[in-house]
Amino acid sequence: MAHIHDLAPSIPNYTSNRLTTPTPIRFPPTPVFSSMNKPSRFEGDVTDLEVTGTIPPDLDGIFFRVQPDHRFPPLFQDDIHFNGDGSVTAIRIHPGPRGGGGGRADFKQRYVRTDRFRHESLARRSLFGRYRNPWTDHESVKGVIRTASNTNVVFWRGVLLAMKEDGPPFAMDPATLETLGRYDFEGQIRSPTFTAHPKVDPESGEMVCFAYEAGGDGADGSVDVAVWTVDRDGRKVEECWYKAPFAGMIHDCGISENWVVLPLTPIKMNLERMKRGGNKFAWDPNEDQWYGLMPRKGARSEDIIWFRADNGFHGHVAGCYELPSGEVVLDLTVADGNVFFFFPPDDAITPPEGVAKRNKLSSPTVRWIFDPKAKKSTIRTAEAGDADVWVADERVKPSLTWPTNGEFSRIDDRYTTKPYRHFWQAVVDPSRPYDFAKCGPPTGGLFNCLGHYTWSKEHCHTTCSTENGANGTAGPGEGGKFGLEDVYFAGPTMTFQEPTFIPREGGAEGEGYLIALLNHLDELRNDVVIFDAQNLGKGPLAVIHLPLKLKLGLHGNWVDQRDIDAWQARRAESGDVGPVQVATEPLPWQKKMAERNGTDGTSGV
Ligand SMILES: [Fe+2]
Repeated sequence: MAHIHDLAPSIPNYTSNRLTTPTPIRFPPTPVFSSMNKPSRFEGDVTDLEVTGTIPPDLDGIFFRVQPDHRFPPLFQDDIHFNGDGSVTAIRIHPGPRGGGGGRADFKQRYVRTDRFRHESLARRSLFGRYRNPWTDHESVKGVIRTASNTNVVFWRGVLLAMKEDGPPFAMDPATLETLGRYDFEGQIRSPTFTAHPKVDPESGEMVCFAYEAGGDGADGSVDVAVWTVDRDGRKVEECWYKAPFAGMIHDCGISENWVVLPLTPIKMNLERMKRGGNKFAWDPNEDQWYGLMPRKGARSEDIIWFRADNGFHGHVAGCYELPSGEVVLDLTVADGNVFFFFPPDDAITPPEGVAKRNKLSSPTVRWIFDPKAKKSTIRTAEAGDADVWVADERVKPSLTWPTNGEFSRIDDRYTTKPYRHFWQAVVDPSRPYDFAKCGPPTGGLFNCLGHYTWSKEHCHTTCSTENGANGTAGPGEGGKFGLEDVYFAGPTMTFQEPTFIPREGGAEGEGYLIALLNHLDELRNDVVIFDAQNLGKGPLAVIHLPLKLKLGLHGNWVDQRDIDAWQARRAESGDVGPVQVATEPLPWQKKMAERNGTDGTSGV
């Protein structure tokens, strides 16, 4: 007979789900902090990693990626992975020796020294509560920027920007991973929030970036959306503010030569729920998925068109480009239900009978084609108040749906804004064997394959005359008509994290390598794997063995060492650009809070 304590186990340090004492340090025994996702909290360097196979000798650069990794036990035992502190990994690949032989690899990992990190380090405990809910924080950190900078790391004008969409970026030195400070684009962008998925136009060198919940303090459930362009010299050259129909998540974006597309996912904020200490977001199975289309240049608030389509959950964007007709193509994965199971529907808002019951999500690659000339009308929504929301008169439907069942789409970034043929994803294939006895549940999702997809000529809209990338077989099921699929299965005890494409110098689109982290779920250890990007099925060219376990990361990017070196020279005291200027003043919302309260929660560390 089970003991009563087995039925309702007590969790050390927690009462009523809230951390009562910071010592001893012990993480909750929940799946979020177990197995592959047990906190790593490791900072350090390992040089000359073990390698199986041969690192392509022409690789010279750094693979940066970031993972959430709670530095201290969370304030709430049911905390989620996305609330962990940003920890950045750099895999430095040195080129092989002249005359033959493969390259070498070094490992470096450091936390991002966010304001959050510095306050909690001083207190030697967690002070920030639930994911993006400041009403659950310790009193001592009211007014402190909460972001954990744990979602993406983007190289921009010589610095590495660690980003999370609930706050401003933090700049790091790409060579040392030292945190330089909060980055506000030299005082030009001072919004409370900022995307983790800016897009760089490879032709103009411009960064197109955006923020949602951007109108107030970044935690007020506002419908304000801002879109900016920063030119290659670092000058903000475009800025426009819009109203969304509701306060939902806008995680990624697409940019074409002339347009920006923002997917608004029906996972909604609610201020009252947050004030009660509840979740920031709740999935709304009765809400549409929306796409905001706005001009990149000279935009006015009323230029946006919101297109609506049947309910779905947005994944990441593969490509975005324009057709000769002027219409805008956007390809991204869209799941048919709530991917973020930890943000369930709010029963107080969504009638339970309206909740779709789905045991198994599918996540195909969906193509949308938006007409910038579509007829539109203004509507009013409860959340947007008196503001006009410009909505297309006609709903949109997918132009095609390729049943790839993956996520973390990536392309050859040199083809951002342009028609493209190749994309890559971490793929879920439940038909492959999985060793549950050795591994337990597949932490973070069963991404047991990497997939390389090549659009067929009919669907790629490129003028490409070569047959590059023709490896692979017709896609699964009816997917065969959309293009070729080239898949590598990791094995029954392994899963992948997001892959990143590395172009080969002078190569055509898609010619180069694919780099990704491999999770050994049985050994609790990671490898870095490098493939020929157009022949995944052949297996990795090199496996770089890490002697430790990382965590499930989110996004990463490859940066060529020549770019790092050139920018280090430009950013030197004697360089033509000079050292990066990090933010020195509190953000506007922090100043307002200080004026209102007569205290300055931003000072101290
Ligand atoms: Fe993302």
